[in-house]
Amino acid sequence: MPVITAPHAFNESQLYVDLEPVLGCPLLLKCEGFNFAGSIKLKAATEMVEAAERDGRLKPGSILVESSSGNLGIALSMIAASKDYRFLCVTDSRCNLSTRLLMEALGSRVHTITSPNAEGGFLGARIDYVRALCDSDDRYVWLSQYTNPSNWKAHYRKTAPEIAQYFPRLGVLFVGAGTTGTLMGCARYFRQWHRPVRIVAVDSVGSVSFGGPPGRRMIPGLGMSMPPPLLDESYVDEVVRVEETDTIRVCHRLARRGFLFGGSTGTVVSGAMRWLDAHDTREITAVAIAPDLGERYLDTIYQSNWLYDLYGEDLLDPEEAVGGPREAGPVPAFPESRQPPPPEDR
Ligand SMILES: Cc1ncc(COP(=O)(O)O)c(C=O)c1O
Repeated sequence: MPVITAPHAFNESQLYVDLEPVLGCPLLLKCEGFNFAGSIKLKAATEMVEAAERDGRLKPGSILVESSSGNLGIALSMIAASKDYRFLCVTDSRCNLSTRLLMEALGSRVHTITSPNAEGGFLGARIDYVRALCDSDDRYVWLSQYTNPSNWKAHYRKTAPEIAQYFPRLGVLFVGAGTTGTLMGCARYFRQWHRPVRIVAVDSVGSVSFGGPPGRRMIPGLGMSMPPPLLDESYVDEVVRVEETDTIRVCHRLARRGFLFGGSTGTVVSGAMRWLDAHDTREITAVAIAPDLGERYLDTIYQSNWLYDLYGEDLLDPEEAVGGPREAGPVPAFPESRQPPPPEDR
């Protein structure tokens, strides 16, 4: 029976869903959403904060600052509250309402950027703001998830060994790529320990992480609009790219069986299913990582109007769809409360 005094002290690491009976696919899904921050980003946030404390950058009186509009912002809000640091999350007007409310409920301040900058878009404008803050006052400490090696080290030290412990004969691991912290930490671990594991990165169509043209991406978590600084492609055996429509279909198929996962899980599972379909899987142990759960996506991926407005009415077979029926009358594409989160940031 775990008894804790700090919220980040609990993180369920041993839960897998066998997708064979659910989707007819020989895949085990490692669930990373069962902690107080609700996502895999708790690991990166904890590792980055502890490293900054160890090297003396983060100390009593420091103010953490990070550009985020999603899971990392929530994880940092939780840790900052628990360790008595102040945290300022710099986000933009596309951040969804529930994420902002969650961060504020945890005591964080949220600064919302309302206009993109000419070259770097919203992400560029957010980073400019963070830099200016840090220049103005040395109490600000920016962890910088895109470049911070502690991001991938968290998964090298935790996520990968957790998997290796239960699957000594692991054949293939599917990992979604955002900042590529999870991907690089797992890939480095299995390479270092000479395990013959195929590392398959799963990315969204429209992301430029592994080359390819930029395009519209509405589902947050995976994909980048600039090359990820942490990525070293020499550790990646294959890349699978997934269309958002396929992501959504898989999310709804899982929800129909009672498993409500986040968007990036739909992407990773969809990519893994395609890969497994094209390979001989009789002897292979296949694991995929599910970064979070579905509640944060109730007003997007699991909301009929959002889906139909963006992807059209034929996206889902009525047998597959979950979520209420389409409301009558015209519905604006993005009412204030349904703003999609920025795809390029986590
Ligand atoms: C829901 C979700 N999925 C996937 C990822 C990607 O993880 P990483 O940044 O380690 O590549 C993130 C990152 O924030 C996320 O929030």
